[in-house]
Parts: sequence; C-alpha cells; structure tokens
Amino acid sequence: MSMRRVWVTGAILAGATAIWAGGIAASSPIPLHQWLAHPHDSWLLAQGKNPNVVQLTLPPLKPLSAVAQLGRKLFFDPRLSGSGKLSCASCHNPGHAFAPANDLSVQLGGDDMRRAGVRTVPSLAYLYRQQNFSIGPDNPANESADLQHLAILGAHAPRAQKTVLDVQTAAANMVPKGGLFWDGRVNTLQQQAAGPLFNPLEMGAGSPDTIVAKLEHAPYAHDFVQLFGPRVFDDPALAVSESLFAISRFQIEDPGFRPFTSKYDAWLRGHARFTPAELRGYLAFNDVHKGNCAACHLDQVTRDGLPPLFTDMQFEALGVPRNPALPANHNPGNFDLGLCGPYRTDLKAQTQYCGMFLTPTLRNVATRHVFFHNGVYHTLSQVLDFYAFRDTRPHKIYPVDSGGRVEKYNDIPLKQRSNVDVSDPPLNRKLGETPAMNMQGMRDIIAFLQTLNDGYSPVKR
Ligand code: HEC
Ligand code: HEC
Repeated sequence: MSMRRVWVTGAILAGATAIWAGGIAASSPIPLHQWLAHPHDSWLLAQGKNPNVVQLTLPPLKPLSAVAQLGRKLFFDPRLSGSGKLSCASCHNPGHAFAPANDLSVQLGGDDMRRAGVRTVPSLAYLYRQQNFSIGPDNPANESADLQHLAILGAHAPRAQKTVLDVQTAAANMVPKGGLFWDGRVNTLQQQAAGPLFNPLEMGAGSPDTIVAKLEHAPYAHDFVQLFGPRVFDDPALAVSESLFAISRFQIEDPGFRPFTSKYDAWLRGHARFTPAELRGYLAFNDVHKGNCAACHLDQVTRDGLPPLFTDMQFEALGVPRNPALPANHNPGNFDLGLCGPYRTDLKAQTQYCGMFLTPTLRNVATRHVFFHNGVYHTLSQVLDFYAFRDTRPHKIYPVDSGGRVEKYNDIPLKQRSNVDVSDPPLNRKLGETPAMNMQGMRDIIAFLQTLNDGYSPVKR
C-alpha cells in the first residue's frame, strides 16, 4: 500500500508519465470504496484528481489493411441497400458514436424506406473486447458447452447480488453474457453484418445475385479483384461473404471505433480534473447506496490495464416500460423478450430469460437520442428517473389503468414478470421507500456520464 502511495503521489507531483510507465499495468484495480478510505486519496479526489493514476493498455494504432479499406467503402455505400438510400453509416453514423443522428426510437428502412425497425440502434463503438455469447463465467468449458445444458445448470445455481462492492463475485454468476445485438444472438462482426444487409426492414439488399450485380459496377470493383482474385464475382455467395469480411475488418481495425479520447480516460491517466458535479456523479455511480451503476456498467481499469467499457456484458431484465411509439407494439400481443425471442430463437424454451437484454456500454451514451432496447426514453434524465422510481414510485414510470392500478413491467407478459431484476441495487427498493437518488444525485450522475463522450482529448498513445 505505502509503495503505491509513494509513486502515485510522485507521479502526480512530477506530472511526468515516464516515471511510472511500466510498473502500472501490474497494479490491480483497487475498488473505489477501498481507496477512498485513505485520507490522502480523498484529498486528491476532492480536487477532482484521480488518486490512482493508471496507464491504459490501448489497442495499437496501425494503418488499415487493404481489406479493411475496402470494408470502409462498403460501410458507407448506400448502393448495397434495396432502396439505394441506406448504408451501414445511415444508422451507425460515425459523427454520432456510430448510432443514428436522428431521435427516432427505431429507424426506417426497407425498399420504400418506410418500414420501421423493432429495436434501437446500438453504438458500434467499443465492441473490440466483446466476448462470444455464453452462460456462466469465462472459461473454455462454458464456451464450448451446450447452451441448453448451461441454462439448466444456471437455473439451479445461486446468483450473487451485483454491487459495486464486489464485481468479481457477480462476474462468476451462472448467467447469460456476451454476443452482439441486444439479445446476443450472433458472435462475430462478420456474421452480424449479414443481418442488416439482408433484413427487409433494414437494408433489404435482396439476394447475393442482386448485390453482386451492384458490386461489379461499383467504383471499388477492382479492389475486389485485386484482393480476392479475378473470379470473385463468379460466385455471388463468396463475393458477399468477402464483403461482410471486409466490413468486419474495417470495424475491427479502424481506431475510430475505439478512440478512448473521453474526459474520463484522460482523468484515469491523470490528465484531467473532474468538476465538482462530475466528481459527485462519479462517486454516486460507484455508491452501492446510490446509483450502484458500476456494478453492471463496470468503470474500473482491469488488472491488465485495459480501460473499462462500462458493461459487464451480462444480460438483465430491467422491465423498462413498453414503448407505444413502436409500430410493432400496436399489436398488444407483441412482446420483444430479448434472450427468449422472438428475434433470437435458440433459447425460447428458457423462459427464465424472457425480458433479458445485454447491458450496453455507457461510453458516448450522452450523445444518444434514444435509450434502452425499445427506445422508450429520449433523455438521460428519464433514464435516471427509471432507476430511482421504478419500484419506489412506479406510477411515475408506468401507465396507470382505469382501476388506478399501475401496470408495472408492462413490456413483459404477466407470467414472466418475475424475471425482472429486483435484487440488484438500486432496483431492490420497495414501493414507497426513499429512492436511491435524489434530483441532485441524478443530475450529478448525468454530469459524470457526459465525461464518457469521446473527443475531449486528442488520441494519445
Ligand atoms: C436501418 C438501420 C440499420 C442499418 C442500415 C444497419 N444497422 Fe446495424 N443495427 C441496427 C439495429 C436496430 C441493431 C440492433 C438490432 C438488435 O439488437 O436486434 C443493429 C446492431 C448492429 C450491430 C451489433 C452492435 C451491438 O452493440 O451489439 C452491429 C455490429 C451492426 N449493427 C453493424 C451493422 C453493419 C456492418 C451494417 C451495414 C452492413 C449495419 N449495421 C446496418 C440498425 C441498422
Ligand atoms: C443490474 C445491472 C444494472 C445496473 C445496476 C444499472 N444498469 Fe443501466 N443498464 C442495464 C441493462 C441490462 C440495460 C439495457 C436494458 C434494456 O434495454 O432493456 C441498461 C441500460 C442503461 C442505459 C441505456 C443505454 C443505451 O444505450 O440505451 C443507461 C443510460 C444506463 N443503463 C445507465 C445506468 C445508470 C446511470 C445506472 C445507475 C443509476 C445504471 N444504469 C444501473 C443494467 C444495469
């Protein structure tokens, strides 16, 4: 402990990164509540400084490979879509952390550009460490085991409460985690890109033949030939699969998908100071009696110096309110239940998972215009109200029926509402209890969330 204190203070006083470069990755992250117990740390923190300065292990900056450069062209090319109007970038706009620029809950697409999607568009940033979908803690046995088998084991395993005081124990829970999309239904970016490309509600590209007819006449057709050989267009399935591969390489290689230029990253490295509101927000985010947000949206550097991604990659049923604005919801019998369907089909028998969605990253979240899988909210303040009032003042969150009864968790069918997480703070409060956060606390947390926007500092490696 005293060693750490000496070099931390030394580094801050000297302001020189060179002194402590090297040894730092080995220093394991000290949970916030532990280091806050030390007067010196609290003293630095009170000035907005990070008492536990770290060096972040960032992915190396390398020029894009030729395949990734082709992938970039494809990513921005609307020609691939059935309507000729939508590219990947239309919904995943690089100027908006790879999410849409508009504030629609779901995007319009399809041949006529009038067909509504069913879920909000997640950011494509910071997926570089996303693990494959599995159930239970990370280990080779779980990754190769049969999901149905693991689900049954999980149903009988005890589940540790998720709190900022002990994220390690919760990481070992026998619960679903990882994968891409809100329901984790695919694992690789390459597999993933086929989804929107052929989805009739999105790009609606038609058949591989239609796509290849367009690729052959695209300005980058010669790139295909150079990379994949002169016969690449003879086999449409192959040409499409090479295209998807190229798009995935672009997302993997381009540093724009993981810039780590937020104020929070600068703060972690000792290059920025929190304002008083940001500091209060950070502490509330990490306070089990207040936000407890960091229990699921992990915010500490890993033992290997990897920067936090603000997700534990686990699935939860938060029971967010139904969004009446979604066209799919005009049918009262329609429910998007995440892990158990309808868009994911392999776990539909595992009804204990109905209503569960992947915990998203909160990096750049303050640049988003819609929140949660169904886009029911349009401001962060509504999101914070949800966490504070869901059970303590549910009439503020859910519709009230003609008999005066609050329709809690109304986006999940009655018989599956017991899946909703009522054990992890702040979602463990009861009707009428004091909410975990007051107005000031919620405003402070929002101030902290704004420090997660990229673009605060230039990329420093
Ligand atoms: C019409 C809007 C739209 C277009 C166009 C679109 N996407 Fe998406 N994208 C979405 C939506 C909506 C989701 C979430 C779907 C879900 O969870 O079921 C998504 C999810 C993703 C994800 C998963 C992200 C995560 O955090 O899990 C990736 C990766 C992705 N899209 C890549 C692409 C690529 C590559 C293209 C172009 C080939 C593309 N998208 C085109 C709307 C779109
Ligand atoms: C028990 C785990 C858990 C805790 C605790 C938690 N979250 Fe979340 N958070 C989630 C999950 C899961 C979702 C996605 C839920 C959905 O869409 O149905 C989510 C979604 C969000 C979103 C929407 C992001 C987006 O891209 O749409 C925001 C913002 C957010 N959380 C902020 C917070 C804040 C602030 C706190 C603390 C007050 C907090 N969360 C506490 C699990 C958690």
